[in-house]
Amino acid sequence: MFKTKKITALVCLAFLSASAAHAADLTRDNGAPVGDNQNSQTAGPGGPVLLQDSNLIEKLQRFDRERIPERVVHARGTGAFGNFVEEADLSDLTRANVFEAGKTTPVFVRFSTVINSGGSPEEARDPRGFSVKFYTEQGNWDLVGNNMPIFFIRDAIKFPDFVHSLKPDPVTNLQDPNRMFDFFSHSPESTAMLTWLYSNRGTPASYRKMDGFGVHAFKLVNAKGEIHYVKFHWVSRQGIENLTPAQIPVVQGKDFNNLTRDLYGALAKGDDPKWDLMIQVLKPAQLADFPYDALDDTKEWKGVPERKVGTMTLTKVPANFFESTEESAFAPSRMVPGIEPSEDRMLQGRLFSYADTQIYRVGTNYMQLPINRPRVPVTNNHQAGELADSKKEGSINYDPTGLQDLKQNPEYRMTQLPLTGTTQQRAIAKKMEFVQAGERYRSLSASDKHDLVANLVTDMSQITNEENEYTELSYFYKADPEFGTRVAKGLKADVSRVQAMAAKLEG
Ligand code: HEM
Repeated sequence: MFKTKKITALVCLAFLSASAAHAADLTRDNGAPVGDNQNSQTAGPGGPVLLQDSNLIEKLQRFDRERIPERVVHARGTGAFGNFVEEADLSDLTRANVFEAGKTTPVFVRFSTVINSGGSPEEARDPRGFSVKFYTEQGNWDLVGNNMPIFFIRDAIKFPDFVHSLKPDPVTNLQDPNRMFDFFSHSPESTAMLTWLYSNRGTPASYRKMDGFGVHAFKLVNAKGEIHYVKFHWVSRQGIENLTPAQIPVVQGKDFNNLTRDLYGALAKGDDPKWDLMIQVLKPAQLADFPYDALDDTKEWKGVPERKVGTMTLTKVPANFFESTEESAFAPSRMVPGIEPSEDRMLQGRLFSYADTQIYRVGTNYMQLPINRPRVPVTNNHQAGELADSKKEGSINYDPTGLQDLKQNPEYRMTQLPLTGTTQQRAIAKKMEFVQAGERYRSLSASDKHDLVANLVTDMSQITNEENEYTELSYFYKADPEFGTRVAKGLKADVSRVQAMAAKLEG
């Protein structure tokens, strides 16, 4: 019934817009009607084209400027609108009203691949971005995550180098596993994430059939100012489905836009995908209870139960790809009262980087675009700049002032964090690089283990530096001897040398 209604509505909309197009004048950007859109003005039948043809000049100028810089990572993306319905009452944990029982909050979601450019194939082995913008009654909250629960590195200072090693070689412009594994073999903290990426989770069959993870710990703060640390997990109600190594070339040969087509095809049929939002919760004192640093984003919180808090449903394909999916700007720093960042060193770097790149990529006033604009009034003293359209009126553009009454509610002050010691530049104490990679390997089915090993062998066979190859193998061996042995054998490497190197590694 619902499906029929939705399809009828789509057909009606298509009809309305088609008939409107027939009725309306074609205009220039100033709204003036155009007389002839097929022939330029010329000086007689054989003369040059006239500069006074402002419709022609405007068309060419606008075309010349159609591109904005694509995202430096996650350039290939697909967006959809929907809503999030909170079911649980989380007032014991947070004052954020997106988490009030029964509250429905509109969302915009963007799924993406990470490394390749805007038009690249969607089947590439890559993490998938899973970004959710909640338009809450207290302002926008962006949960900018991935389809895997952890990340490759734990300190933002390594991020530009990490991305450079994965991006195409600056000489050949080709992605090169030799460069990637040069970086990874010098970054043992990446071992667990590689075990995820090279499993078939690295090639999802559908955006609808993958989970999402906030990855970092965040803080929830309740009305009494009490803090809890949480991790977020979107569980797909469609289940998980991945492409096997054998399926990838077949799918890619038919359609390298398969993930977008799958999502938009489902939405057009009214087969709206859903994800349940789960949280894990720790009291601050419990962070110390783990053999690893609980604020290290290369770690999952093992043994901490998850509870379901609500459900997100995607319902609508945006009507304009560029003005929604391309111009959307997600940032981990975009939070609302009751949600704060944890001290995770990666998250702390991300708090700066996203809004910074968006000022460059989209423009200074990118937050005023409809896709990014909060659904609540924005009242502050930011002003002017490229394409400003705040509609702000009045003379008072400073604070403090006695001439205007703008409240600052102390209830919304950031929570306080007790500190000790001096400033420092030091790695975290509890690294535990390999244990969770081994656990992940052992959790896989026999066929998934086979594919993981085969996928790694394919890329690691391109490593040209023997020391790098053996170092990387020693990480997998340390994670799980069977795992390391299988990859080593696949590469025809000396297993006893791998074993000896692994024996020298810590935790
Ligand atoms: C310090 C580490 C990181 C830095 C500096 C960084 C930086 C960036 C930048 C500059 C963008 C482009 C944003 C834009 O142009 O709008 C981006 C996009 C993105 N990043 Fe990161 N990133 C980091 C780590 C991570 C991690 C750990 C995750 C996953 C948990 C992640 C997930 C994403 C996603 C999903 C997008 C795409 C957002 C969208 O759909 O528009 N990033 N990142």
